Amino acid sequence: MNVKMPYTKPLNQDNSKLQSEVISLFKSGDLKWNTGQNVQEKKEGLNYIIQGLRKMELWIEREYDEKKKQLQLQYYSRREEASKRLDTLEKYEKGEVVQDSNGNAGNHQQQQKKQGDKDQKSEFSNALSEAIVKDKPNVKWTDIAGLEGAKSALQEAVLLPIKFPDFFEGARTPWKGILMYGPPGTGKTFLAKACATEAEGTFFSVSSADLISKYVGESEKLIKTLFSMAREQKPSIIFIDEIDSMCGARGEGQNDSSRRVITEFLVQMQGVGHDDKGVLVLGATNLPWALDTAIRRRFEKRIYIPLPDVKAREFMIQNSLKKNKTTLTQEQFEDLAIKTEEYSGSDISVFVRDAVYEPVRKLQSAKKFKQISVDGQLKWTPVADNEEGTPKSFMELNQGDIAIPDVCYNDFLLALKKSKKSVSKDQLGEFERWTKEFGQEG
Ligand SMILES: Nc1ncnc2c1ncn2[C@@H]1O[C@H](COP(=O)(O)OP(=O)(O)OP(=O)(O)O)[C@@H](O)[C@H]1O
Ligand SMILES: [Mg+2]
Repeated sequence: MNVKMPYTKPLNQDNSKLQSEVISLFKSGDLKWNTGQNVQEKKEGLNYIIQGLRKMELWIEREYDEKKKQLQLQYYSRREEASKRLDTLEKYEKGEVVQDSNGNAGNHQQQQKKQGDKDQKSEFSNALSEAIVKDKPNVKWTDIAGLEGAKSALQEAVLLPIKFPDFFEGARTPWKGILMYGPPGTGKTFLAKACATEAEGTFFSVSSADLISKYVGESEKLIKTLFSMAREQKPSIIFIDEIDSMCGARGEGQNDSSRRVITEFLVQMQGVGHDDKGVLVLGATNLPWALDTAIRRRFEKRIYIPLPDVKAREFMIQNSLKKNKTTLTQEQFEDLAIKTEEYSGSDISVFVRDAVYEPVRKLQSAKKFKQISVDGQLKWTPVADNEEGTPKSFMELNQGDIAIPDVCYNDFLLALKKSKKSVSKDQLGEFERWTKEFGQEG
């Protein structure tokens, strides 16, 4: 007998307990927030609301379809509101003497929580230890072409507060979040490497892939651990590359885990209940418009990293040829810089690499060679087919007997024909629009 099982939806778990917890957390939070007489009380209120948001995340994950959508909307407006309150709190803090947080930390529940946090931390800090940059990447400020605005903003944020902490008091607080955005290949990651090289203190470099775990709940814990490690080892910089893939804007596509990640991020960046001094978050993205609005606001300084201008391109070409012999004149360098308009930094490095290969290609395809004297030694160098020379193939020669021709202007012209720029006008337009609205020219 063929018994057909009727289709059943998975059982909708009983969410009423979660629901009432969420409601009561929000209620107490709002009450404390609205009636709180000082920063500490308002903070407590906000902490309830954040706990409520976390519970609500769990709740949303357990709901289906219509109900889920409806809850998401409520969740987003709650979170937006919480994020604004975080801003307000910060303003209060600047104007008021902040109370010693130890003063209130005596109760049992909190101590228990602290112990739990500790256990969890060691587990996750192992996973994150690789993120700490121990060997300086050896990129100097002087290796970076152009981007003067961005360089000085970063120096202001990264070097000065560490070197001269006393300058930063009162309203002159160091930046807590800096976002670098711009088309691909313009040097965002490169700038971060320069910060790691030049800044004292601990540098954490993580990509979103390191922080997004497929296990429910682990991503938030990783982020939490990351920030608490940074706080322990301050002064420190947390660099998060391609942050858009982690903190993308809300919407239909936003899944449960990224929602939790964003909340954790907001909490950690604002530092409710902990001292944030000495921790700078540096983000990079080439999709700034994809960032969640609350996250965007946390990055107080948003610096546009544009395509290199003609001077910067000339510097890049010249700088990347430092270790190769060339016959190029200053005018020819300038000319190449003009010819590479709208190339990004990485387009240029590909272009230069292609050009410096030309002499090797000449060698491979040469049918005739002639002998020249290099440092008193006779060596074979390829000649063009229509020139005088001894017929040979480079395969017959030993490496020590060959003189590779110097890179010449013509090699660059050949490479230019093959190279392409990778950023389109449309893309640039989008960046400029976004900069007008939210950014700052770098
Ligand atoms: N301003 C610059 N000065 C010197 N070199 C640069 C500059 N911009 C880019 N480059 C070169 O291009 C390469 C790629 O740059 P980088 O990885 O920093 O780009 P990015 O902005 O992070 O791009 P993406 O958005 O795709 O991650 C660098 O390794 C460097 O060689
Ligand atoms: Mg990058």
